[in-house]
Amino acid sequence: MSIPVITVGPAQEAVVGGLERLHGPVTVVRRCSELAELMAACQSGLALAAVVAEGCEELTATLVDRLGAVGVSIVALTGDPAEAARLTAIGVATASADIEPAALASRISETVGRYGGIVGSRKFPDAGFADFSSGFQVASEGPEPEAAAVGSGRVIAVWGPTGAPGRTLVAVNMAAELAAEGKSVILVDADSYGASVSAMLGLLEESAGLAQACRLADQGLLDADALGRAATTVFTKGGLFRVLTGTTRADRWTELRASALSLVLERAKQAADVVVVDTGFCLEADEELSFDTMAPRRNGATLRSLELADEVIAVGAADAIGVPRLVRGLADLEAAVPQATPRVVLNKVKRASAGRSPRRQLSEAWERFGPGHGVDAYLPADVDACDAALLSGSVLLESAPDSPLRLAIAGLVCAPIQQKRKSLGRSTRALGLLKR
Ligand SMILES: Nc1ncnc2c1ncn2[C@@H]1O[C@H](COP(=O)(O)OP(=O)(O)OP(=O)(O)O)[C@@H](O)[C@H]1O
Ligand SMILES: [Mg+2]
Repeated sequence: MSIPVITVGPAQEAVVGGLERLHGPVTVVRRCSELAELMAACQSGLALAAVVAEGCEELTATLVDRLGAVGVSIVALTGDPAEAARLTAIGVATASADIEPAALASRISETVGRYGGIVGSRKFPDAGFADFSSGFQVASEGPEPEAAAVGSGRVIAVWGPTGAPGRTLVAVNMAAELAAEGKSVILVDADSYGASVSAMLGLLEESAGLAQACRLADQGLLDADALGRAATTVFTKGGLFRVLTGTTRADRWTELRASALSLVLERAKQAADVVVVDTGFCLEADEELSFDTMAPRRNGATLRSLELADEVIAVGAADAIGVPRLVRGLADLEAAVPQATPRVVLNKVKRASAGRSPRRQLSEAWERFGPGHGVDAYLPADVDACDAALLSGSVLLESAPDSPLRLAIAGLVCAPIQQKRKSLGRSTRALGLLKR
Protein backbone atom coordinates (compact mmCIF):
# COMPACT_ATOMS: atom_id res chain seq x y z
CA MET A 1 0.00 0.00 0.00
CA SER A 2 1.26 3.42 -0.87
CA ILE A 3 1.74 5.68 2.16
CA PRO A 4 -0.44 8.81 2.03
CA VAL A 5 1.68 11.86 2.73
CA ILE A 6 0.90 15.52 3.36
CA THR A 7 3.57 18.09 2.67
CA VAL A 8 4.04 21.58 3.99
CA GLY A 9 6.17 24.49 2.83
CA PRO A 10 5.79 26.92 -0.05
CA ALA A 11 9.18 25.99 -1.46
CA GLN A 12 8.47 22.29 -1.58
CA GLU A 13 7.89 21.98 -5.30
CA ALA A 14 11.03 20.00 -5.98
CA VAL A 15 10.36 17.61 -3.13
CA VAL A 16 6.69 17.08 -3.89
CA GLY A 17 7.22 16.83 -7.61
CA GLY A 18 10.00 14.33 -7.04
CA LEU A 19 7.88 12.19 -4.73
CA GLU A 20 4.96 12.27 -7.13
CA ARG A 21 7.09 11.23 -10.08
CA LEU A 22 8.21 8.14 -8.20
CA HIS A 23 4.73 6.58 -8.46
CA GLY A 24 5.94 4.38 -5.67
CA PRO A 25 5.77 3.80 -1.99
CA VAL A 26 4.33 7.21 -1.10
CA THR A 27 1.48 9.30 -2.48
CA VAL A 28 1.22 13.01 -1.84
CA VAL A 29 -2.44 13.52 -0.92
CA ARG A 30 -2.32 17.19 0.07
CA ARG A 31 0.08 20.11 -0.23
CA CYS A 32 -0.19 22.68 2.53
CA SER A 33 1.38 26.09 2.72
CA GLU A 34 1.65 26.27 6.51
CA LEU A 35 1.71 24.11 9.64
CA ALA A 36 -1.80 25.08 10.79
CA GLU A 37 -3.20 23.76 7.53
CA LEU A 38 -1.14 20.62 7.89
CA MET A 39 -2.53 20.03 11.40
CA ALA A 40 -6.09 20.35 10.18
CA ALA A 41 -5.49 18.05 7.22
CA CYS A 42 -3.82 15.43 9.39
CA GLN A 43 -6.65 15.47 11.91
CA SER A 44 -9.07 14.54 9.19
CA GLY A 45 -7.22 11.24 8.90
CA LEU A 46 -5.91 11.79 5.39
CA ALA A 47 -2.31 10.83 5.91
CA LEU A 48 0.14 8.57 7.70
CA ALA A 49 3.10 10.90 7.27
CA ALA A 50 3.83 14.59 6.98
CA VAL A 51 6.87 16.03 5.25
CA VAL A 52 7.75 19.43 6.67
CA ALA A 53 9.93 21.02 4.01
CA GLU A 54 9.70 24.52 5.44
CA GLY A 55 8.82 26.00 8.81
CA CYS A 56 10.19 23.13 10.87
CA GLU A 57 11.37 25.66 13.47
CA GLU A 58 7.70 25.95 14.47
CA LEU A 59 7.49 22.26 15.37
CA THR A 60 7.18 21.60 19.11
CA ALA A 61 6.77 18.41 21.14
CA THR A 62 3.10 19.31 21.57
CA LEU A 63 2.51 19.52 17.82
CA VAL A 64 4.42 16.30 17.28
CA ASP A 65 2.32 14.71 19.97
CA ARG A 66 -0.89 15.88 18.36
CA LEU A 67 0.13 14.47 15.02
CA GLY A 68 1.22 11.27 16.70
CA ALA A 69 -2.22 11.11 18.29
CA VAL A 70 -3.80 10.84 14.85
CA GLY A 71 -1.19 8.36 13.65
CA VAL A 72 0.92 10.75 11.60
CA SER A 73 4.72 10.49 11.61
CA ILE A 74 6.77 13.53 10.66
CA VAL A 75 9.85 13.85 8.49
CA ALA A 76 11.36 17.34 8.57
CA LEU A 77 13.85 18.56 6.01
CA THR A 78 16.63 20.72 7.34
CA GLY A 79 20.21 21.50 6.48
CA ASP A 80 21.05 22.81 9.94
CA PRO A 81 22.61 20.21 12.28
CA ALA A 82 21.52 22.12 15.43
CA GLU A 83 17.94 22.25 14.20
CA ALA A 84 18.12 18.55 13.30
CA ALA A 85 19.24 17.78 16.86
CA ARG A 86 16.39 19.88 18.29
CA LEU A 87 13.88 18.10 16.07
CA THR A 88 15.23 14.71 17.02
CA ALA A 89 14.80 15.62 20.70
CA ILE A 90 11.08 16.20 20.21
CA GLY A 91 10.45 13.05 18.22
CA VAL A 92 10.75 14.21 14.62
CA ALA A 93 12.63 12.21 11.99
CA THR A 94 14.92 14.44 9.96
CA ALA A 95 16.47 14.37 6.52
CA SER A 96 18.75 16.81 4.77
CA ALA A 97 17.08 19.53 2.73
CA ASP A 98 18.57 18.30 -0.56
CA ILE A 99 17.65 14.65 -0.11
CA GLU A 100 16.83 12.75 -3.33
CA PRO A 101 13.13 11.89 -3.77
CA ALA A 102 13.77 8.13 -3.69
CA ALA A 103 15.77 8.45 -0.47
CA LEU A 104 13.07 10.64 1.04
CA ALA A 105 10.41 8.09 0.12
CA SER A 106 12.31 5.34 1.88
CA ARG A 107 12.92 7.62 4.87
CA ILE A 108 9.16 8.17 5.09
CA SER A 109 8.42 4.45 4.79
CA GLU A 110 10.98 3.64 7.43
CA THR A 111 9.61 6.26 9.82
CA VAL A 112 6.02 5.17 9.35
CA GLY A 113 7.06 1.52 9.64
CA ARG A 114 8.95 2.14 12.83
CA TYR A 115 6.63 4.50 14.63
CA GLY A 116 3.57 5.05 12.54
CA GLY A 117 0.19 3.40 13.05
CA ILE A 118 0.43 4.60 16.61
CA VAL A 119 -1.71 1.80 17.97
CA GLY A 120 0.92 -0.78 17.21
CA SER A 121 3.83 1.29 18.40
CA ARG A 122 2.67 2.35 21.82
CA LYS A 123 5.07 1.88 24.60
CA PHE A 124 2.17 1.25 26.96
CA PRO A 125 -0.33 -0.55 24.77
CA ASP A 126 -3.02 -0.82 27.37
CA ALA A 127 -2.51 2.50 29.03
CA GLY A 128 -1.92 5.69 27.10
CA PHE A 129 -4.29 7.53 29.43
CA ALA A 130 -1.96 10.49 29.60
CA ASP A 131 -2.46 11.06 25.90
CA PHE A 132 -2.88 9.06 22.76
CA SER A 133 0.61 9.34 21.46
CA SER A 134 2.47 7.90 24.41
CA GLY A 135 4.28 5.53 22.11
CA PHE A 136 5.56 8.10 19.72
CA GLN A 137 9.28 8.02 19.94
CA VAL A 138 12.23 9.88 18.59
CA ALA A 139 13.32 8.93 15.11
CA SER A 140 16.25 10.31 13.19
CA GLU A 141 18.71 9.40 10.53
CA GLY A 142 21.47 7.07 11.51
CA PRO A 143 21.66 5.10 14.73
CA GLU A 144 18.78 5.17 17.17
CA PRO A 145 19.43 8.30 19.21
CA GLU A 146 17.36 7.27 22.16
CA ALA A 147 19.55 4.23 22.76
CA ALA A 148 22.35 6.55 23.77
CA ALA A 149 20.12 9.12 25.40
CA VAL A 150 18.03 6.99 27.74
CA GLY A 151 18.89 7.92 31.32
CA SER A 152 19.91 5.34 33.86
CA GLY A 153 18.18 7.03 36.79
CA ARG A 154 15.18 5.47 38.48
CA VAL A 155 11.84 7.25 38.60
CA ILE A 156 9.82 6.91 41.80
CA ALA A 157 6.32 8.36 41.58
CA VAL A 158 4.57 9.14 44.85
CA TRP A 159 0.82 9.00 44.40
CA GLY A 160 -2.18 8.76 46.70
CA PRO A 161 -5.90 9.46 46.59
CA THR A 162 -7.63 12.72 47.44
CA GLY A 163 -7.68 13.93 51.05
CA ALA A 164 -4.06 14.98 51.60
CA PRO A 165 -2.79 11.57 52.77
CA GLY A 166 0.81 12.84 52.80
CA ARG A 167 2.09 12.43 49.24
CA THR A 168 4.22 15.56 49.37
CA LEU A 169 5.59 14.86 52.83
CA VAL A 170 6.64 11.37 51.74
CA ALA A 171 8.08 12.55 48.39
CA VAL A 172 10.09 15.41 49.89
CA ASN A 173 11.51 13.31 52.70
CA MET A 174 12.25 10.36 50.43
CA ALA A 175 14.26 12.73 48.24
CA ALA A 176 16.14 14.02 51.29
CA GLU A 177 16.89 10.51 52.58
CA LEU A 178 18.11 9.36 49.18
CA ALA A 179 20.37 12.42 48.97
CA ALA A 180 21.68 11.66 52.45
CA GLU A 181 22.58 8.20 51.18
CA GLY A 182 24.80 9.83 48.60
CA LYS A 183 22.46 9.52 45.62
CA SER A 184 22.00 12.39 43.21
CA VAL A 185 18.32 13.20 43.34
CA ILE A 186 15.87 15.39 41.44
CA LEU A 187 12.49 15.99 43.07
CA VAL A 188 9.73 16.92 40.61
CA ASP A 189 6.49 18.55 41.73
CA ALA A 190 4.03 17.32 39.11
CA ASP A 191 0.87 17.87 41.17
CA SER A 192 -1.20 19.99 38.82
CA TYR A 193 -3.90 20.57 41.44
CA GLY A 194 -1.98 21.67 44.51
CA ALA A 195 1.78 21.93 44.06
CA SER A 196 3.28 22.28 47.53
CA VAL A 197 6.87 21.05 47.43
CA SER A 198 8.21 24.61 47.41
CA ALA A 199 6.00 25.56 50.38
CA MET A 200 7.13 22.50 52.31
CA LEU A 201 10.77 23.31 51.66
CA GLY A 202 10.46 27.03 52.26
CA LEU A 203 11.45 27.90 48.69
CA LEU A 204 10.45 31.06 46.88
CA GLU A 205 7.53 30.42 44.57
CA GLU A 206 8.29 33.04 41.99
CA SER A 207 8.97 30.65 39.14
CA ALA A 208 7.73 27.16 38.49
CA GLY A 209 10.86 25.24 37.56
CA LEU A 210 8.89 22.33 36.12
CA ALA A 211 6.82 24.59 33.85
CA GLN A 212 10.02 26.21 32.64
CA ALA A 213 11.59 22.80 31.96
CA CYS A 214 8.44 21.64 30.15
CA ARG A 215 8.43 24.76 27.99
CA LEU A 216 12.03 24.17 26.93
CA ALA A 217 11.42 20.45 26.42
CA ASP A 218 8.46 21.28 24.18
CA GLN A 219 10.79 23.31 21.99
CA GLY A 220 13.45 20.60 22.03
CA LEU A 221 15.81 22.85 23.98
CA LEU A 222 16.05 21.08 27.34
CA ASP A 223 19.68 20.06 27.61
CA ALA A 224 21.47 19.26 30.87
CA ASP A 225 22.42 22.92 31.45
CA ALA A 226 18.88 24.15 30.90
CA LEU A 227 17.57 21.51 33.30
CA GLY A 228 20.11 22.68 35.87
CA ARG A 229 18.97 26.29 35.47
CA ALA A 230 15.30 25.34 35.87
CA ALA A 231 16.00 23.40 39.07
CA THR A 232 16.47 24.81 42.56
CA THR A 233 19.11 23.25 44.76
CA VAL A 234 18.13 22.37 48.32
CA PHE A 235 20.91 21.90 50.83
CA THR A 236 20.34 19.76 53.89
CA LYS A 237 22.66 18.44 56.57
CA GLY A 238 22.52 15.06 54.88
CA GLY A 239 23.26 16.25 51.35
CA LEU A 240 21.82 18.28 48.53
CA PHE A 241 19.10 17.53 46.04
CA ARG A 242 17.52 19.46 43.18
CA VAL A 243 13.89 20.42 42.85
CA LEU A 244 11.74 21.24 39.83
CA THR A 245 9.08 23.25 41.59
CA GLY A 246 5.44 23.00 40.56
CA THR A 247 2.84 25.39 39.25
CA THR A 248 1.20 26.84 42.33
CA ARG A 249 -1.52 28.53 40.30
CA ALA A 250 -3.99 25.80 39.46
CA ASP A 251 -4.92 27.44 36.13
CA ARG A 252 -1.39 26.85 34.85
CA TRP A 253 -1.85 23.09 34.63
CA THR A 254 -1.82 23.29 30.81
CA GLU A 255 1.90 24.04 31.05
CA LEU A 256 2.53 20.49 32.25
CA ARG A 257 1.69 18.61 29.08
CA ALA A 258 2.37 14.91 29.17
CA SER A 259 4.53 15.00 26.03
CA ALA A 260 6.84 17.66 27.46
CA LEU A 261 6.88 16.06 30.90
CA SER A 262 8.08 12.78 29.37
CA LEU A 263 11.05 14.61 27.90
CA VAL A 264 11.73 16.35 31.23
CA LEU A 265 11.67 13.06 33.13
CA GLU A 266 13.93 11.46 30.55
CA ARG A 267 16.38 14.33 30.85
CA ALA A 268 16.16 14.16 34.66
CA LYS A 269 16.95 10.44 34.53
CA GLN A 270 20.11 11.27 32.63
CA ALA A 271 21.11 13.81 35.26
CA ALA A 272 20.27 11.98 38.49
CA ASP A 273 20.37 8.55 40.12
CA VAL A 274 16.82 8.91 41.34
CA VAL A 275 13.95 11.13 40.19
CA VAL A 276 11.20 11.41 42.80
CA VAL A 277 7.88 12.72 41.44
CA ASP A 278 5.15 14.14 43.65
CA THR A 279 1.97 13.54 41.64
CA GLY A 280 -1.60 14.76 41.81
CA PHE A 281 -4.34 12.53 43.19
CA CYS A 282 -6.72 12.40 40.22
CA LEU A 283 -6.41 9.58 37.69
CA GLU A 284 -9.43 10.34 35.54
CA ALA A 285 -8.64 10.34 31.84
CA ASP A 286 -10.25 13.42 30.39
CA GLU A 287 -11.00 11.81 27.08
CA GLU A 288 -13.75 9.94 28.86
CA LEU A 289 -15.31 13.30 29.67
CA SER A 290 -14.70 15.04 26.38
CA PHE A 291 -14.75 14.14 22.71
CA ASP A 292 -11.97 16.60 22.03
CA THR A 293 -9.08 14.17 22.03
CA MET A 294 -6.69 16.94 21.02
CA ALA A 295 -7.31 18.95 24.17
CA PRO A 296 -4.60 18.96 26.83
CA ARG A 297 -5.38 16.61 29.66
CA ARG A 298 -5.83 17.86 33.19
CA ASN A 299 -4.34 14.73 34.68
CA GLY A 300 -1.82 14.09 31.93
CA ALA A 301 1.16 14.97 34.14
CA THR A 302 0.12 12.56 36.91
CA LEU A 303 -0.77 9.77 34.52
CA ARG A 304 2.40 10.17 32.51
CA SER A 305 4.55 10.20 35.66
CA LEU A 306 2.93 6.97 36.79
CA GLU A 307 3.35 5.40 33.35
CA LEU A 308 7.04 6.24 33.27
CA ALA A 309 7.79 5.36 36.90
CA ASP A 310 9.98 2.41 37.77
CA GLU A 311 8.39 2.37 41.18
CA VAL A 312 5.06 3.74 42.42
CA ILE A 313 4.49 4.53 46.08
CA ALA A 314 0.77 4.69 46.91
CA VAL A 315 0.16 6.70 50.08
CA GLY A 316 -3.11 6.53 52.00
CA ALA A 317 -4.21 8.00 55.30
CA ALA A 318 -4.59 5.30 57.94
CA ASP A 319 -8.08 6.14 59.08
CA ALA A 320 -11.66 5.23 58.35
CA ILE A 321 -11.84 7.67 55.43
CA GLY A 322 -8.34 7.34 54.02
CA VAL A 323 -8.11 3.55 53.85
CA PRO A 324 -11.27 2.88 51.79
CA ARG A 325 -10.23 5.76 49.53
CA LEU A 326 -6.88 4.13 48.99
CA VAL A 327 -8.49 0.77 48.28
CA ARG A 328 -10.70 2.32 45.61
CA GLY A 329 -7.82 4.46 44.36
CA LEU A 330 -5.63 1.40 43.84
CA ALA A 331 -8.32 -0.13 41.63
CA ASP A 332 -8.40 3.10 39.60
CA LEU A 333 -4.61 3.07 39.43
CA GLU A 334 -4.61 -0.46 38.11
CA ALA A 335 -7.12 0.49 35.42
CA ALA A 336 -5.23 3.62 34.41
CA VAL A 337 -1.67 2.31 34.61
CA PRO A 338 -1.80 -1.50 34.49
CA GLN A 339 1.96 -1.86 34.43
CA ALA A 340 2.38 -0.20 37.84
CA THR A 341 2.88 -2.41 40.89
CA PRO A 342 2.52 0.06 43.72
CA ARG A 343 4.07 -0.22 47.14
CA VAL A 344 1.34 0.62 49.59
CA VAL A 345 2.18 3.01 52.42
CA LEU A 346 -0.27 3.82 55.20
CA ASN A 347 0.53 7.21 56.69
CA LYS A 348 -0.57 9.04 59.83
CA VAL A 349 -1.00 5.79 61.74
CA LYS A 350 -2.31 6.54 65.24
CA ARG A 351 -4.19 4.86 68.00
CA ALA A 352 -7.00 7.36 68.02
CA SER A 353 -8.17 6.29 64.57
CA ALA A 354 -7.09 2.64 64.44
CA GLY A 355 -7.42 1.50 68.02
CA ARG A 356 -4.86 -0.29 70.20
CA SER A 357 -2.03 -1.92 68.28
CA PRO A 358 -2.95 0.22 65.27
CA ARG A 359 -0.47 -1.39 62.95
CA ARG A 360 -1.78 -4.88 63.60
CA GLN A 361 -5.35 -3.74 63.30
CA LEU A 362 -4.66 -2.00 60.01
CA SER A 363 -2.75 -4.94 58.64
CA GLU A 364 -5.54 -7.37 59.47
CA ALA A 365 -8.21 -5.12 58.05
CA TRP A 366 -6.18 -4.58 54.90
CA GLU A 367 -5.75 -8.28 54.41
CA ARG A 368 -9.47 -8.76 54.62
CA PHE A 369 -10.61 -5.89 52.46
CA GLY A 370 -7.61 -4.53 50.63
CA PRO A 371 -6.68 -5.34 47.05
CA GLY A 372 -4.24 -8.12 46.07
CA HIS A 373 -1.05 -6.70 47.54
CA GLY A 374 -0.19 -6.12 51.19
CA VAL A 375 0.87 -2.96 52.99
CA ASP A 376 4.56 -2.26 52.53
CA ALA A 377 5.03 0.37 55.22
CA TYR A 378 3.27 2.08 58.10
CA LEU A 379 4.26 5.67 58.83
CA PRO A 380 3.31 6.96 62.27
CA ALA A 381 1.34 10.14 62.77
CA ASP A 382 3.68 12.77 64.17
CA VAL A 383 2.06 16.15 64.11
CA ASP A 384 4.83 17.82 66.11
CA ALA A 385 7.56 16.63 63.76
CA CYS A 386 5.57 17.60 60.66
CA ASP A 387 4.65 21.01 62.03
CA ALA A 388 8.24 21.73 63.04
CA ALA A 389 9.45 20.77 59.57
CA LEU A 390 6.78 22.91 57.90
CA LEU A 391 7.50 25.86 60.15
CA SER A 392 11.19 25.81 59.38
CA GLY A 393 10.80 24.79 55.72
CA SER A 394 13.10 21.84 56.30
CA VAL A 395 13.07 18.09 55.98
CA LEU A 396 12.57 15.64 58.83
CA LEU A 397 16.17 14.51 58.86
CA GLU A 398 17.06 18.04 59.95
CA SER A 399 14.13 19.13 62.09
CA ALA A 400 13.25 15.79 63.70
CA PRO A 401 16.10 13.38 62.91
CA ASP A 402 15.23 10.86 65.60
CA SER A 403 11.49 10.88 65.09
CA PRO A 404 9.90 7.53 64.28
CA LEU A 405 8.30 9.14 61.21
CA ARG A 406 11.65 10.18 59.76
CA LEU A 407 13.13 6.76 60.47
CA ALA A 408 10.14 5.04 58.85
CA ILE A 409 10.49 7.12 55.68
CA ALA A 410 14.22 6.45 55.62
CA GLY A 411 13.46 2.74 55.94
CA LEU A 412 11.04 3.01 53.05
CA VAL A 413 13.75 4.32 50.77
CA CYS A 414 16.89 2.70 51.98
CA ALA A 415 15.72 -0.78 52.98
CA PRO A 416 12.25 -1.55 51.71
CA ILE A 417 10.08 -3.00 54.38
CA GLN A 418 8.76 -6.33 53.26
CA GLN A 419 5.46 -7.09 54.83
CA LYS A 420 4.47 -10.69 54.52
CA ARG A 421 0.76 -11.09 54.11
CA LYS A 422 -0.69 -12.96 57.02
CA SER A 423 -3.36 -15.56 56.72
CA LEU A 424 -6.81 -14.32 55.90
CA GLY A 425 -8.27 -16.42 58.67
CA ARG A 426 -7.22 -13.89 61.29
CA SER A 427 -9.78 -11.88 63.11
CA THR A 428 -10.53 -8.43 61.73
CA ARG A 429 -12.29 -7.48 64.90
CA ALA A 430 -13.38 -4.07 65.89
CA LEU A 431 -11.65 -2.08 63.22
CA GLY A 432 -14.49 -1.13 60.91
CA LEU A 433 -12.06 0.83 58.76
CA LEU A 434 -12.67 -0.87 55.51
CA LYS A 435 -16.37 -0.86 54.92
CA ARG A 436 -16.92 -0.75 51.19
N1 LIG B 1 2.70 11.18 59.33
C1 LIG B 1 2.16 12.40 59.52
N2 LIG B 1 1.86 12.83 60.74
C2 LIG B 1 1.29 14.03 60.96
N3 LIG B 1 0.99 14.89 59.99
C3 LIG B 1 1.27 14.52 58.73
C4 LIG B 1 1.85 13.27 58.43
N4 LIG B 1 2.02 13.18 57.09
C5 LIG B 1 1.55 14.34 56.58
N5 LIG B 1 1.10 15.15 57.55
C6 LIG B 1 0.53 16.47 57.40
O1 LIG B 1 -0.63 16.35 56.60
C7 LIG B 1 -0.77 17.51 55.80
C8 LIG B 1 -0.87 17.06 54.36
O2 LIG B 1 0.35 16.49 53.97
P1 LIG B 1 0.86 16.57 52.47
O3 LIG B 1 0.84 17.96 52.01
O4 LIG B 1 2.14 15.81 52.39
O5 LIG B 1 -0.31 15.74 51.77
P2 LIG B 1 -0.63 15.57 50.22
O6 LIG B 1 -1.17 14.20 50.08
O7 LIG B 1 0.55 15.94 49.43
O8 LIG B 1 -1.82 16.64 50.05
P3 LIG B 1 -2.29 17.48 48.78
O9 LIG B 1 -3.54 16.80 48.31
O10 LIG B 1 -2.54 18.84 49.33
O11 LIG B 1 -1.19 17.45 47.76
C9 LIG B 1 0.44 18.39 56.05
O12 LIG B 1 0.10 19.37 56.99
C10 LIG B 1 1.43 17.43 56.67
O13 LIG B 1 2.34 18.07 57.56
MG1 LIG C 1 0.80 17.37 47.92
